[in-house]
Amino acid sequence: MQTQDPHRRSIRSFVKRAGRLTPSQRKALEELWPTMGLRHSPDLLDLDEVFARVAPVVLEIGFGNGETLVQQAFENPDKNYIGIEVHKPGVGHCLLKAHDAGIGNLRLLMHDAIEVLNSQIPLESLTRVNLYFPDPWPKKRHHKRRIVQHDFLNLIADRLSTNGSLNIATDWAEYAEHIDDVVGQSNRFTCSERREHDGEQPLDRPRTKFERRGLKKGHRIWDGCFIKAPNN
Ligand SMILES: C[S@@+](CC[C@H](N)C(=O)[O-])C[C@H]1O[C@@H](n2cnc3c(N)ncnc32)[C@H](O)[C@@H]1O
Repeated sequence: MQTQDPHRRSIRSFVKRAGRLTPSQRKALEELWPTMGLRHSPDLLDLDEVFARVAPVVLEIGFGNGETLVQQAFENPDKNYIGIEVHKPGVGHCLLKAHDAGIGNLRLLMHDAIEVLNSQIPLESLTRVNLYFPDPWPKKRHHKRRIVQHDFLNLIADRLSTNGSLNIATDWAEYAEHIDDVVGQSNRFTCSERREHDGEQPLDRPRTKFERRGLKKGHRIWDGCFIKAPNN
């Protein structure tokens, strides 16, 4: 059984961004959420039941507007996808894109990913976790709000199946160093691929909205694929 200490309040890696829902996003949340949305709850999800089939499950944390997530789900109909995002307009946008793409292999949660992973995602149930362009929290006093921390790696490793991967991309050089340090100090992952590029050579993912934003500002991109270490 998975348990969590109800008194332990984890640090939030997000601030809810302002942003009004467009009428079509509002409509999507009303009409499409009942099919594609999953409620946050203290109970574990039965992922085979959620998708009404047995297939590898890929989870994306902080999918933003969801375009990359929908494209990946569309291109990989043999896999099941779960997206977690707290930004309501982004969730509305993702629902619209998923509906347009006609995909049935995607479910969304609109809640803090740390809490969802802790309470709802079963151990060893995921083949892959994607974390694309997490908030960099550049000020030193905010570094503790970065999602990539020792406890986060343990949380992810526990939910990945054997040889499962954690894929992280960032356009923030100093966050890339932080990721290298934290992953380097963990015995839960080994680095299988690491690439620094100018947006032309992502590992195996479509470009994201925040990536395009970073590239416009002249940032470089760091992509890493970390595999769950055996016997851990
Ligand atoms: C910088 S944006 C990147 C969005 C998208 N991945 C992209 O590359 O375009 C980071 C996103 O992560 C979301 N986020 C951060 N921490 C989160 C958490 N703990 N749970 C769910 N979403 C989170 C934020 O709301 C935000 O939309």
